[in-house]
Amino acid sequence: MQFHPQNRSKVPTYLNAVNRLRIVKIKEIRAESPTVKTFTFQDKLCGKAEPGQFVMVWILGADEIPISLSSITTNGLTSITVAQVGKATKALHQRKRGDFLGIRGPYGNGFTLTSGNIMIAGGGTGLVPIMPLTEKIVKLSTKLTFLLGAKTKDELLFLDRINKTLSEVNAEIVATTEDGSYGLKGIVTDQAEQRLAKDKFDMIYACGPEQMMHNMFLLAERYHMPFQASLERIMRCAIGLCGSCVIGKFRVCKDGPVLTSEQLRTVKEEFGKFKRDFQGRKIAV
Ligand SMILES: Cc1cc2nc3c(=O)[nH]c(=O)nc-3n(C[C@H](O)[C@H](O)[C@H](O)COP(=O)(O)OP(=O)(O)OC[C@H]3O[C@@H](n4cnc5c(N)ncnc54)[C@H](O)[C@@H]3O)c2cc1C
Ligand code: FES
Repeated sequence: MQFHPQNRSKVPTYLNAVNRLRIVKIKEIRAESPTVKTFTFQDKLCGKAEPGQFVMVWILGADEIPISLSSITTNGLTSITVAQVGKATKALHQRKRGDFLGIRGPYGNGFTLTSGNIMIAGGGTGLVPIMPLTEKIVKLSTKLTFLLGAKTKDELLFLDRINKTLSEVNAEIVATTEDGSYGLKGIVTDQAEQRLAKDKFDMIYACGPEQMMHNMFLLAERYHMPFQASLERIMRCAIGLCGSCVIGKFRVCKDGPVLTSEQLRTVKEEFGKFKRDFQGRKIAV
């Protein structure tokens, strides 16, 4: 079909919807920890997103980066929660209420929802995509074991929101910190192992540092339980074209970011071991 800019109604759908850059106004900014902030904005398409999907966020003068949605509401009120780690995230943290961001997406395959006895494990900013998942899955689960971890108390995200979401359902919440400043001293995977040895889970969901997700995957395999994890790789196009996010035969932006045990078994050489840098070279995770 011939495309003419004056005839917008004939723009092919693939150009018209998620792939088009939208400019959104920051409605609210909330500090979650000394290094993590949540930014809220309005976007109709994000209101239709699935838990685990992400957007490409364009921060004017800095970069365009992939960020998961930390809250999704059907009226389009949407949040992203971002740790300050480098140039783009620092520029984003300097933005004020009323400033503008560019977004495209939501992209990727999110978590597949399951009913029954569920285990969720999140570490650090890995809790970001876990939150919308949890808010949906509470309606399906018969029992929910929620394990959250961080190095120290300051880095444990969303504690109030987790307690509130799980307050009226059959749930166990276990917080761990590596320095023992909150909850149990130790790491999430140790708590997961204790429970996996005693109970059968219908699904295990994980998001966090790759070593943690890899260890959760190995536990799920050992106890023969289904598993989904949300992976991070360098992303540029987010639509499966540039190849910067490749792991084995998968493009994490399009086939993931959430991959299942079946998919992860085929990328054992790379998962938990290597990722690609900005030049496409393999580097240790
Ligand atoms: C699907 C997905 C969802 C993500 N969701 C979140 C989230 O919800 N909250 C959050 O705080 N962070 C999230 N990240 C990580 C976030 O994209 C990086 O922290 C951010 O891009 C860093 O940019 P920078 O310029 O500040 O840092 P830089 O100094 O440029 O990079 C620091 C590190 O961030 C990573 N990174 C940099 N650029 C990219 C890129 N284009 N794609 C992927 N990783 C990159 C690399 O590991 C790099 O070493 C997500 C990443 C992916 C792939
Ligand atoms: S980011 Fe380009 S193929 Fe995934």
